[in-house]
Amino acid sequence: MTKSIGILTAGGDSPGLNAAIRAIGKSAIRRYGWNVLGFQDGFRGLMQNRFIRLDSDALSAILTRGGTILGTGRDKPHRMEVGGSILDMTDVMLENFQQNHLDALVCIGGGGTHKNALRLIEKGMPIVTLPKTIDNDLVGTDGSLGFDTALGIATEAIDRLHSTAHSHHRIIVVEIMGHNAGWLTLASGLGGGADVILIPEIPYSVADIANAIAVRKSAGSMFSIVAVAEGAISVQLAKRIADIESTGGPDARANEKLAMSQRKTTVEIAKELEESTGLDSRVTILGHVQRGGSPSPMDRVLATKLGTAAIEAIQAGETGVMIASRGEGVATIPVSEVANRTHLVPADHPWIEAARALGVCMGDEV
Ligand code: F6P
Repeated sequence: MTKSIGILTAGGDSPGLNAAIRAIGKSAIRRYGWNVLGFQDGFRGLMQNRFIRLDSDALSAILTRGGTILGTGRDKPHRMEVGGSILDMTDVMLENFQQNHLDALVCIGGGGTHKNALRLIEKGMPIVTLPKTIDNDLVGTDGSLGFDTALGIATEAIDRLHSTAHSHHRIIVVEIMGHNAGWLTLASGLGGGADVILIPEIPYSVADIANAIAVRKSAGSMFSIVAVAEGAISVQLAKRIADIESTGGPDARANEKLAMSQRKTTVEIAKELEESTGLDSRVTILGHVQRGGSPSPMDRVLATKLGTAAIEAIQAGETGVMIASRGEGVATIPVSEVANRTHLVPADHPWIEAARALGVCMGDEV
């Protein structure tokens, strides 16, 4: 029987989304002759029944394109802004799914998308997900779409900052994406040879960083590269947050959010380092450059492997699962085991051990 499937991309965009859409669509059409619809702008498109037909023409020449031809969005199906009100639109999405006689929906996204997909799965919608995030913070998979490309961009940026920092005898603080997880900062910091790497998982002390830079200076290295994740926090702020968590209460979440919003900016970190080391400093915020442009070869391979495997899972009647990357192959893992969890960098991760072995300052006093 000819099946029909839908695809949507949700959350922040990342390189490799189009390569995944292509792999899903082409294998569905070529292998099984299925109909493929692409819902636009994430879950909002599903709610509004806004889609395009993904036929062979639509799927052609998109492998190397950045972004997503479907558009994306950060809407939550159970708390959607509709006409000025916040409404639960999960039932509307289910109706649209059924009206289009769909057999399955493929959702490509990160942490938020997995939480949203789980809500629809619990309503009875057969969904398969693909892991996508430049933050690499999804559990259960060896890799996520976009991480490798972003890693290449951030590493190249650090390479380029090295030569200018060296020429001017400066500290250059480079801010890298990742609010909760430091994978991208750690990996690009290692790959680019940063002298200091600050990640959200290891609270930093400006005094310890300044000390590490002063040691380099006295050994004749008059420049330093500091790679900082956008979610890195100081030891003092980490303690304040731990206190809020241990006190608990109805305002705990709001107080934690407020405390986080008061964390030192990258510009403030650079200023403090400048004052305590006597070296000139500059700041580079890489921002969305890390999410733009053509996917790396590895992300294209990952997208193709995961996308084609999604079709095989649907054909085998396996839904409610994420297609995870495991080594060179794939594995399926229930979406319920992925949603609401974050893959953080463990304190004893081999990359951290390796950084410390080279004398890289991780912001703490080890
Ligand atoms: O979740 C991926 C991510 O790229 C984070 O690293 C970053 O903090 C966030 O998205 C920014 O997203 P946006 O500016 O699109 O809301």
